[in-house]
Formats: sequence, C-alpha cells, structure tokens
Amino acid sequence: MSFRIEGYVIVSADGMLADAGRVMPDSLKFEGDKRFFEQALDRAALIVHGRNSHEQQPNSARRKRLILTRKIRDLTVDPEMPNATLWNPEHASFEEACAFADVASGMVAVIGGPVVFDLFMDRYDTFWLSEAPHVRLPGGEGCFVGVPPRMPHEVLTAHGMRPGAPYLLDAVHEVTVTPWRRGGSLPAVAALTPAPTQTGKTTPCTVPATSYRSTYCWCAVLKLVPPPASAKPASIFAETR
Ligand SMILES: NC(=O)c1ccc[n+]([C@@H]2O[C@H](COP(=O)([O-])OP(=O)(O)OC[C@H]3O[C@@H](n4cnc5c(N)ncnc54)[C@H](OP(=O)(O)O)[C@@H]3O)[C@@H](O)[C@H]2O)c1
Repeated sequence: MSFRIEGYVIVSADGMLADAGRVMPDSLKFEGDKRFFEQALDRAALIVHGRNSHEQQPNSARRKRLILTRKIRDLTVDPEMPNATLWNPEHASFEEACAFADVASGMVAVIGGPVVFDLFMDRYDTFWLSEAPHVRLPGGEGCFVGVPPRMPHEVLTAHGMRPGAPYLLDAVHEVTVTPWRRGGSLPAVAALTPAPTQTGKTTPCTVPATSYRSTYCWCAVLKLVPPPASAKPASIFAETR
C-alpha cells in the first residue's frame, strides 16, 4: 500500500473549527475555501472523518470514505452509504480499513474532527491549514486535541511539520491556506520572501518560502519580528490571480 496522507481544516483566528455548540458556523464558510476543499476531495482516493464531519458536497456520494465510530467493532459497510466503511481504530488498523474499502494507493484526505486529525498527526505528508483571521469563536471547539491552550501552528510544529508559502483563498476576508509539510528546517527571518507565483491551481507549491501569513505563525511560535506588509500570498486559483 502506498498512500499520501493530507489533512484539511479551516480555523478561526483563535484556532477553532466549530463554535461553542460544536457546529461549524456560517462565519467560517468562504466560497474560496469551499472550492479549494472540493477540488482537493475530488482528487482523493479515500476520505477519513468522524461521524459529524461529513463534507456534504455535490460529489460526496461518489467518494470512498472511512467513517470513524466506536459503535461497531468489526469493519462494516455503512448501511446508509455504500461507499463508506465504518471503522473503529481500536479494533482494526488503518491499513486493514483501507483494504476493506478496497483502496490500495492514492491521496487520503483526513477532514476531522479533532480526535480524527490527532490520530494521523505523525503521518501527514501535508496538512492544509486554512485560516480565517477575522473570525473568532470564543469557547468553540479547537481544531486539534490540545487547542486551546495551544495554537494549531504549535501542534503541527510539535509533530515535525513546517509551513510552506500560504495561498490566498478569499481576498476580501484575507482567508489563506498554508501547506504544512514534514521535515525541513525552521525558516529564518532573513529567508523571508513573497509568496511565489502560482503555477497551477491546487498543485502544492514546492518553493520553501515563507510569506506574511506563515511568518506570522512563526512570529507567534518563535517570537520573530513581523514581516513587511508588502509580502502578500498568491491566489491558489489561476483564474482569480
Ligand atoms: N472547520 C472545519 O474545517 C471542520 C472540519 C471538520 C469538522 N468540522 C465541524 O466540527 C464539528 C466536529 O464534530 P466532532 O467533534 O463531533 O467530531 P467528529 O470527529 O466528526 O465526530 C465525533 C464522532 O466520531 C467518532 N470518532 C471520533 N474519533 C474516533 C475514534 N478515535 N475512534 C472511534 N470513533 C471516533 C465518534 O463517533 P461515535 O459517537 O459514533 O462513536 C465520535 O462521536 C462538526 O460540527 C463539524 O461540522 C469543521
């Protein structure tokens, strides 16, 4: 089996994925992020999520998925969704669940909630962290186990991931998505460069540059100085550049 494991979440400025009622509010929904997320899931071989994190998109019924639940013991086809396997990780490994779902390779998209993200924290090739800097959800549900008090960036850093250049998803609300990848060295302030020119829609950027959003993350984590205001992230959508 050969998988590429990617995580996807959008969070508020205080690191929440849902409000105090454990519901993702409309204030955290943005057309650009929705589009980015839909395109990503369309290229996934398998989607993994908890019982309350189904993505509810037009193509959802066609996608293969693992739905985590403690209510079953053995791997089971979901009686309500023929493309879905019910999986209890206490009783079957991820590889066994993939074999049951008849998926042997490709991109696996892990889409939440927090405990599900946590389960894969040491296995992500890339974690795509979307951030809505003008939304706050006090008392909400943190995106990862340990958030709060920690911020999402600290959790990803603690698990060996480093931020790449962010992409702009929504210019009006300054929503960005940053790919966090395993390994690499800590970015230095001297290495600060503007986001690279985007070359292909959702193709991940491989240039190890930081720009203003991720550098702010690093400022929070490493107490570095803020980046210059001129460094702006590029749009991830070719047509909105
Ligand atoms: N902002 C975003 O990008 C984003 C992303 C994802 C989710 N959300 C939102 O955040 C909220 C997440 O809800 P949630 O915290 O309830 O998360 P969830 O992971 O969707 O659902 C929790 C349920 O999943 C199952 N589960 C989770 N971890 C498990 C494990 N290790 N083993 C077995 N089963 C496990 C359990 O189901 P059983 O009770 O059946 O055992 C548990 O009750 C939802 O409102 C969702 O819309 C937002």
